[in-house]
Amino acid sequence: MKIMITQLLYDALNQAIDFTTIESLLEKPKHEELGDIAFPCFMLAKILRQAPAQIAAELAEKLHDERIRQVVATGPYINFFLEPLPIANAIIPAIVTQQAMYATQQQNGKKIVVDYSSPNIAKPFSMGHLRSTVIGQAIANIAEKMGYEAVRINHLGDWGTQFGKLIVAYKLWGDAEAIRKHPIQELLKIYVQFHEEAEKDAALDDQARQAFKALEEGDAAALALWKEFREASLVEFNEIYELLGVHFDSYNGEAFYNDKMARVVHELETKKLLTASEGAQVVDLGEELPPCLIKKKDGATLYATRDLAAAFYRLDTYQPEKLFYVVGGEQTLHFKQWFYVIDKLGYDASKFTHIPFGMMLKDGKKMSTRKGKIVLLSDVLSDTMEAAKQTILEKNPNLSAIDEVAKQVGIGAVIFNDLKNDRQNDIEFSIEQMVTFEGETGPYVQYTNARIHTLLEKAQFDATTAPLQSLDDALWPTIKVLEAFPATIERAYAQADPSQIAKFSLQLSRTVNKFYGQQKVLTNDNAQHDRLTVLYTASIILEECLNLLGIEAPQHM
Ligand code: ARG
Repeated sequence: MKIMITQLLYDALNQAIDFTTIESLLEKPKHEELGDIAFPCFMLAKILRQAPAQIAAELAEKLHDERIRQVVATGPYINFFLEPLPIANAIIPAIVTQQAMYATQQQNGKKIVVDYSSPNIAKPFSMGHLRSTVIGQAIANIAEKMGYEAVRINHLGDWGTQFGKLIVAYKLWGDAEAIRKHPIQELLKIYVQFHEEAEKDAALDDQARQAFKALEEGDAAALALWKEFREASLVEFNEIYELLGVHFDSYNGEAFYNDKMARVVHELETKKLLTASEGAQVVDLGEELPPCLIKKKDGATLYATRDLAAAFYRLDTYQPEKLFYVVGGEQTLHFKQWFYVIDKLGYDASKFTHIPFGMMLKDGKKMSTRKGKIVLLSDVLSDTMEAAKQTILEKNPNLSAIDEVAKQVGIGAVIFNDLKNDRQNDIEFSIEQMVTFEGETGPYVQYTNARIHTLLEKAQFDATTAPLQSLDDALWPTIKVLEAFPATIERAYAQADPSQIAKFSLQLSRTVNKFYGQQKVLTNDNAQHDRLTVLYTASIILEECLNLLGIEAPQHM
């Protein structure tokens, strides 16, 4: 619609100002009664040396199109009232036939690497990892909708000095049987025990350092233990991924880069970027940033070294257009540091983006997985599914496959609750609030969609691409929302912000639900088919939104 109006103005103005400027000036009138789109004439006043109101009045006379019902000059503004039917008939078939798979600029398979989830082996899957998982998955989906190929990487925290500690702890206090049953719980227990004992006995720390050294050098016994920890942890993580419907193209974690670290050190040496500092090797980053640690005194590599090695590997392997790192805001300094090293090494640092996010709060406090008060994510998710089930039982006790739907709704509620806000905000985790079918929730969007399906079934609706003959005025707001979908995808991608999609789905749901209140849908005439076609189109887009967010869309609720 904007393009159409821009073109009209552009032609009528004899190209006095350029196309994109006109497009950027178009706005939504303050009140719906004023029109659908407004064009302010202040800027033209300077160019044409005329009063804005006079320009508006004269220009309004010249603008005609079959898709425009009326053009009104109101003071310095030109207000456009669009002709709903032809616009609906331009939008609906595009959605129905292509299933709305259109963002206007398709990127033809260029690769985007998304590093997300990335929990630490032998440690509980934290709320921060949940946020990373959910946000990363949505960003990868949105990138794919833009025509990119997303490479989904779980950069597991499966390497580092803590594994030396774990190996020592295991040898001293490990219970193989218990670990097999509850791997993360048990491994965490002996890890905590290690820290307590090490405070009394410094020799333990030395042993741990040696154990990690042995691991780095490929000692078979150490490797076998490490592998056991890793696999046992993955079994637990995969249960969570299964529930969330998340998948990855690669589980290459930090350990994968153990034999790829030499190149990092070599390149840094060749470019004379390494300096010694208290026995360690660092890259000096000037006044602004603390130095980036590359190698410890004992030669062991660090988190940043492994991120650099991973960056090289990803550049070589995937030749990506961009690399996204979906990691909590508390690691901002880490990413700044090693991105800067990338830049100093002469690589294109602008390809690399840290995508930070806020914390998950419960009653205003951080939901922590630290010792003492572990919040187990699997427990939280089952509580949510149970709460969803209770709500469904109240609303629709005869629903079939209730457990399956409760899972879709419960998990959808958690994901939506995370994605509906600007990702930088801290978010509150309240099960009760996120599973209600009203308000700004995932279940509300799912329910709106399911209701449309019930209606379509009841009317035995058959989708056609024949043009609509009629369009109730009450449906015009819905058409206008639908029209904004491709631009919303583009904005969500450009800002790496899934909340744009979530907010859009809420807006569409509200608009559709308002329509129900104003207009009877089933009237058994041609108008009924036209109405159902619009609702059907809305359901395609609602499902598309849920899909992008990584949420399922039950057909009945
Ligand atoms: N395992 C890390 C943590 O839990 C997150 C890793 C993020 N990805 C990365 N490439 N550094 O803190």
